[in-house]
Amino acid sequence: MSGVAAASPSKTGEISGTASGGDSAHALKASTTIVVAGASGDLAKKKTFPALFGLYNNGFLPSDIRIIGYARTKMDPEEYHKRVTQYIKAPIPAMKKKLEEFLERCSYVSGQYDKDDGFEELEKELKKCEETYEDKKAPKNRVFYMALPPSVFTVVAANFKKHNYSEGGINRIIVEKPFGKDLESSREMQVDLKKEWKEEEIFRIDHYLGKEMVKNLLVLRFANVMLDASFNKNLISNVQITFKEPFGTEGRGGYFDEFGIIRDVMQNHLLQVLSILTMERPVSFSSEDIRDEKVKVLRYIPEIKFEDVLLGQYTASGDKPGYLDDETVPKGSICPTFASCVLHINSPRWEGVPFILKAGKALNEQKTEIRIQYKDVTQGIFKEITRNELVIRVQPGEAVYLKMNSKAPGLAMRTVPTEMDLTYKRRFSDLKIPEAYEALILDALNGDHSNFVRDDELDIAWKIFTPILHYIDEKKPRPHSYAYGSRGPEELEKFVQDKGGFVR
Ligand code: NDP
Ligand code: BG6
Repeated sequence: MSGVAAASPSKTGEISGTASGGDSAHALKASTTIVVAGASGDLAKKKTFPALFGLYNNGFLPSDIRIIGYARTKMDPEEYHKRVTQYIKAPIPAMKKKLEEFLERCSYVSGQYDKDDGFEELEKELKKCEETYEDKKAPKNRVFYMALPPSVFTVVAANFKKHNYSEGGINRIIVEKPFGKDLESSREMQVDLKKEWKEEEIFRIDHYLGKEMVKNLLVLRFANVMLDASFNKNLISNVQITFKEPFGTEGRGGYFDEFGIIRDVMQNHLLQVLSILTMERPVSFSSEDIRDEKVKVLRYIPEIKFEDVLLGQYTASGDKPGYLDDETVPKGSICPTFASCVLHINSPRWEGVPFILKAGKALNEQKTEIRIQYKDVTQGIFKEITRNELVIRVQPGEAVYLKMNSKAPGLAMRTVPTEMDLTYKRRFSDLKIPEAYEALILDALNGDHSNFVRDDELDIAWKIFTPILHYIDEKKPRPHSYAYGSRGPEELEKFVQDKGGFVR
């Protein structure tokens, strides 16, 4: 990832007010231990450890970093290291050597989440690690990463505070989504967390905020006069934000069935994208200024009504199982694995523009993209001319392209739809784009909250979605079926059209 920041320095522009790199008082550069709670789990092995190694390999972790895993599962060091490295790619000898060094810094403590003795053992291991620090007198910093199911978040956070909080050093706690199941449970969770931890110590991860293209949204909008000027109800007909995955819940059904696609992806990842896309220009790029603007735009969104939602659940197709065939899913579940909903932002800039969100599992492809559809060109001199469309592809293959009409080359006077295309692979071919988790863990170490969720932001996001979630939980509307690998329920096209979206 080190190459990313290095995009031809003479041509890159500074962004004022960002904490990254600049806020040295809060950046943890040494004397730091990271504790990964839930170190035996899926997130830890697939995302947390690979991201920590990515940062270590590129010299971004504090110089004398130590990493301690904590979970109930009993594992000897060999077994633990196998788990840590399972998803780490180290294809060249230099990386292999670095990986060995990294593993020397990784240890593991097994303990319960609700009993004192495990945390006391952890404290002993923390002290042991801290004895290895180069500067023996420096305050000891501790970062607690919660790769745990939400049911144990608060008890573990309280035990960390009680047994493992560093007096004199900087303490931070990184919490994973989901932050509750509705407004009420989210508030309860926040109250419990805040009994022990200060807001500036809490980093709530929504990993979409670490994705390169999501981070680019602010620059695309506010550093390009013509784009910013066109972002309003006078020129834009509708905006569609789509999340598609080509696989189902596969083994994660137990978790998923309790949450459903709206809580899993829409209320957090897609709403974050929407708020950054539509917020007003912040006073600076500091975390508080950015988050103030995000909250402001979210407050213009009224709660969603059931008629503005379409739900779906995937069924078996060929050798692919349906949602209900997953053994971890309760029989007869009506949990939606697909949802589309239309939101309105009743601000002077956006009033009347429908924002159509779509999210689904077991669809025909993997794709997260934002499609901004402009209004029709006045016909008159043109016939059947296509609309302008700005597409921002978050993944896979980051790209921004603007569909525009041009004269078809030749003697005849005809129009042809063309594209102005910024495909990252072509434009930034020699740069490796950092993984979202690498970017976010580094931000947390630097004390930069810009790409983390603030408590009031969370509250307003839940306010928008809680009524519809309660409606679904209580009334149990049956979702439309769609085949595994399809584009979603057949009813989707009509729904999108009825809600003001343009379907190609
Ligand atoms: P896991 O189910 O793998 O749980 C992590 C660890 O927590 C397990 O290894 C287990 O460790 C312990 N654990 C599991 N269930 C319970 C339970 N009921 N009570 C107490 N401890 C339990 O979860 P993930 O790693 O998938 O997810 C962790 C967090 O990260 C969740 O909040 C999830 O929503 C979030 N997340 C996960 C993503 C992913 O890709 N997996 C992506 C984005 C967010 P042990 O038994 O050893 O104590
Ligand atoms: C997680 C959801 O937050 O995001 C998963 O819990 C989903 O269900 C994942 O698969 C998608 O993340 P990404 O980065 O692969 O788009």
